[in-house]
Amino acid sequence: MYIEKCHVDLNMIKIVTVIGARPQFIKAAPVSRAISREAGLHEVIIHTGQHFDENMSQVFFDQMQLSRASHMLDIHSLPHGAMTGRMMEAIEGILMQEAPDWVMVYGDTNSTLAGALAASKLHIPVAHVEAGLRSFNMHMPEEINRILTDRLSHWLFCPTPVAVDNLTREGYEHFPAKMILTGDVMYDASLMFRDKATRPAGVDLDKPFILCTIHRAENTDDPARLDGLIDAVNTLSEERGVIFPMHPRTRKMLGKSRLNSLSKGIQVTEPLGYLEILYLLQHCELVMTDSGGMQKEAYFFNKACITLRDETEWTELVDAGYNRVCGSDAKNIIHHFHHFTENPPAFAEGLYGKGNASAIIAKAFLDQNT
Ligand code: UD1
Repeated sequence: MYIEKCHVDLNMIKIVTVIGARPQFIKAAPVSRAISREAGLHEVIIHTGQHFDENMSQVFFDQMQLSRASHMLDIHSLPHGAMTGRMMEAIEGILMQEAPDWVMVYGDTNSTLAGALAASKLHIPVAHVEAGLRSFNMHMPEEINRILTDRLSHWLFCPTPVAVDNLTREGYEHFPAKMILTGDVMYDASLMFRDKATRPAGVDLDKPFILCTIHRAENTDDPARLDGLIDAVNTLSEERGVIFPMHPRTRKMLGKSRLNSLSKGIQVTEPLGYLEILYLLQHCELVMTDSGGMQKEAYFFNKACITLRDETEWTELVDAGYNRVCGSDAKNIIHHFHHFTENPPAFAEGLYGKGNASAIIAKAFLDQNT
């Protein structure tokens, strides 16, 4: 199908941004701000609704002054195929009406893939922020989403040289696609908001603490892995404080009995806002996480990270000695925790660019015809 351009101002470049999950609100905030500064660019936001709880969605729009979404889809809590399919159908309708010059998608969620598929079938070029990441684990829904999204994208905004190398190895130099090394937009966000970090209410931060998050399906949906992780956190809570902001998926999969088996020293909270997480990152001793974003955020605040997965996309952190990939085995996790407390890494800056990734992205849209 061919769609006709019907812009209010034909000289403006119209970008439809598709977001829907918590990390995408964080990534979109600095990019949207950079776009809004450019007179020649106009952005329209679609929120798929994948994350819908107040503290998984609206709080990020409020804290990071992200523009209200023009289109709210309310599609969530479905199996992967149904979720992606319904999002794709709804996004297609909106794109036909909005007729943008570009569709921009972020990261590796079902919302990312739905946006990229809908746009590319309408021959609207796709720009992918956080392109080129690979875990090389095809059991992860995120790996499937990012590989397919990259392949459909015209512009691949890569956060790291490793991401550029991954794409080059896959032959992207021969595809009608442009790889642009931008640096990481989450680094931009951390610089923009670090001074606004807010102490979370009702949390005791008196003793040194570990900041812990777990939400990946590969951990939450595998009882043996989840048990290993709980075992590790329980053991570590005997020597340190643990703050554990809990994702709804994790709460659901833990169930009442496992939740009750968490030691008293572990402070479980609801998911926290970005500014509260920034505060905990600034004040914690170490981060333990299966999140992609938190691995980098630990580094932005000079904190070592234990990654609760069997692989990571952010291999430069491991190579530099700031991150250890520990899987879900309690003994292994505890061993690496002691390694870091006895040998704290000496951090050097610069792995994720200069904090101007968002500006580079906005400029790319403006410079395309020059
Ligand atoms: C999704 C992304 C993952 C990303 C993560 C960030 C996919 C395949 N995965 O995983 O890449 O790292 O977001 O958090 O897209 N739920 C609520 N309230 C909410 C949001 C979710 O109760 O606000 C529930 C859902 O109903 C579902 C579960 O949490 O039962 C998981 O949500 P889902 O969107 O499937 O994936 P995430 O685990 O959040």
